[in-house]
Amino acid sequence: MSRSVRLARACGALLLGCVLAGCDGGVRGTPGGAGVRDPYFPKAGNGGYDVEHYALDLDYVPDGGRLSGTATVTARAAKDLSAFDLDLSGLDVEQVTVDGESARFSRAGHELVVRPRDDLGEGERFEVRVRYSGTPRTLTDPDGSQEGWLPTGTGAVALGEPVGSMTWFPGNHHPSDKASYAITVTVPEGLRAVSNGELASERTHDGRTTFVWRTAEPMASYVATLAIGRYGITRSTAAGLPVYTAVEPGQAEESAEVLARLPEVMEWAAHTFGPYPFSSTGVIVGDEDDAGYALETQNRPFFPGAPDTALLVHELAHQWFGDSVTPRTWRDMWLNEGFATYAEWLWEEDEGGDSAQETFEALYAGDDDDLWAFPPAEPSGPAHISDRPVYDRGAMVVHKIRQAVGDDAFHDLVQGWTAAHRHGNADTGDFTAYVEERAPDVDFDGIWAAWLYGEGRPESP
Ligand code: TRP
Ligand code: ZN
Repeated sequence: MSRSVRLARACGALLLGCVLAGCDGGVRGTPGGAGVRDPYFPKAGNGGYDVEHYALDLDYVPDGGRLSGTATVTARAAKDLSAFDLDLSGLDVEQVTVDGESARFSRAGHELVVRPRDDLGEGERFEVRVRYSGTPRTLTDPDGSQEGWLPTGTGAVALGEPVGSMTWFPGNHHPSDKASYAITVTVPEGLRAVSNGELASERTHDGRTTFVWRTAEPMASYVATLAIGRYGITRSTAAGLPVYTAVEPGQAEESAEVLARLPEVMEWAAHTFGPYPFSSTGVIVGDEDDAGYALETQNRPFFPGAPDTALLVHELAHQWFGDSVTPRTWRDMWLNEGFATYAEWLWEEDEGGDSAQETFEALYAGDDDDLWAFPPAEPSGPAHISDRPVYDRGAMVVHKIRQAVGDDAFHDLVQGWTAAHRHGNADTGDFTAYVEERAPDVDFDGIWAAWLYGEGRPESP
C-alpha cells in the first residue's frame, strides 16, 4: 500500500469514527469572554452563550447563614467555545459538570471559568451544573448601597440590582440575557421562602420545608429574588391574576391599607401601560431595616417595610418598564426609572392630585442642582445610575413626549412600546427610533438634544 493510500484510509477511519460516535473533532473553540462590555459594569455577564433556563436547588440555614446547593444552567453556545465564564462572587465551588461530565474550573475575582472536556459548537445547547456552598456575601455598589445577599432579623433577602445576584447563584449576570427559572429552596420549618413566579409546591419533611417556585416568563437576573423569613402569606386575585403577598408579621398592620389597593393599582397600570406581562403578581414586605430600598423583583416587588401608594405604583410599573422591557445595558436605566417615576405622576394626576404638568413645572422651577447633574441617557458613572437625573429628569423626558404628541397619542405610544419589546431588551436608541416612527409628524430632535442628552437644565420647560 502506498503511503498516500494508507493515509487516506486512516483519515477515512477517523472520520467514520467521528460520524459513529458523534464526536466534534472539527470544533476549535475559543473562550467565551469575561464580560459583555456593559458601559458601566464591563465585567458583568459573560460572552459566548445565552442562558435559557436556571434551575436552582438551594438550602439555607439562617443560624450560621450557610447556603448550599446546585445551579443547573441550560444555555446555548453563541460561538464555538473552548471555555466560558459564569459570574459568581464568593462561595465555594465543589464541582462543575457540563452535560454530565465533570469539567475543570477556576476562579478569578467574580469569574468562574469552566473548561468543558470537549469544546462546545456554535448553536449547541448545553447544561452546566455547579455544586456550591458557603456564606453568601453582601456587595457594596459603587453608589454605596448594599445588594446581593442581605441577612435580615428572621432570614435573608437577595436583591440583585445591578450585579448582586452573583452572590447567590452562578450565572450570566447581565440584563441582556434573560431566562426562565425554577427556584427550589429548603429552609427550617417555620420559615418561608418567597421568590419570583408561582409557587408550585410547598412540603415539610423532618423539620424542613421545601418551596418550589417557577418563573416561566423571561427574567433578568437582577430582578430575581429570594426572601426567607417569617412571612405571612395572603393569596387572592387581582386584575384576573393570582396574587401572592408575603408580609413580615411586624409589618402586617402597617401595610394592610396600602396592600388592599393592589388590585386597583394593577388594573390602573394595565389600563395605562397595556396588558400585564406576567402570570402572577404580589409583593414582599420585609422588615423596615431590611435592605433600605425597594426593588422591582419580578412578579412581586420587595419593600423594606410597608410602602406608601406611590412606591407601590412605582414598583408595579417597573413590571412593565424594567422587568418585561429590560434595559440592554445599565446606561439605559432611565427607561426603567423615568417611566416608573412617570407612573407615580400619572397616578397622582388620575387620583385628582397634581397633574403631571404641575409636577413637571415644579421640578423645572426648583433649585435642586442634583436634578441637572448629567443627562438621563448618559449617567456620569456607575455610582450614578440611580441618581435623580435618571428618575426625575427621566420622567421629564417622558412628559416632554406627551406634550409633543398629545394625551391620546401618548397613551397609544406607551402601550405600543411595552408591546413591541414585551419580555425583551431595549436601549435608548430603540426608544427614540420607536417614538419617531410612531409620531412621524413631530420633530423630536430638540427634545432629545435638550432633555435626553443635554448637559444642565434645558433653557425652557
Ligand atoms: N431600582 C429601585 C427602584 O427604583 C431602587 C434601587 C435599587 C436603588 N437599588 C438601588 C436605589 C441602589 C439606589 C441605590 O425601585
Ligand atoms: Zn424604580
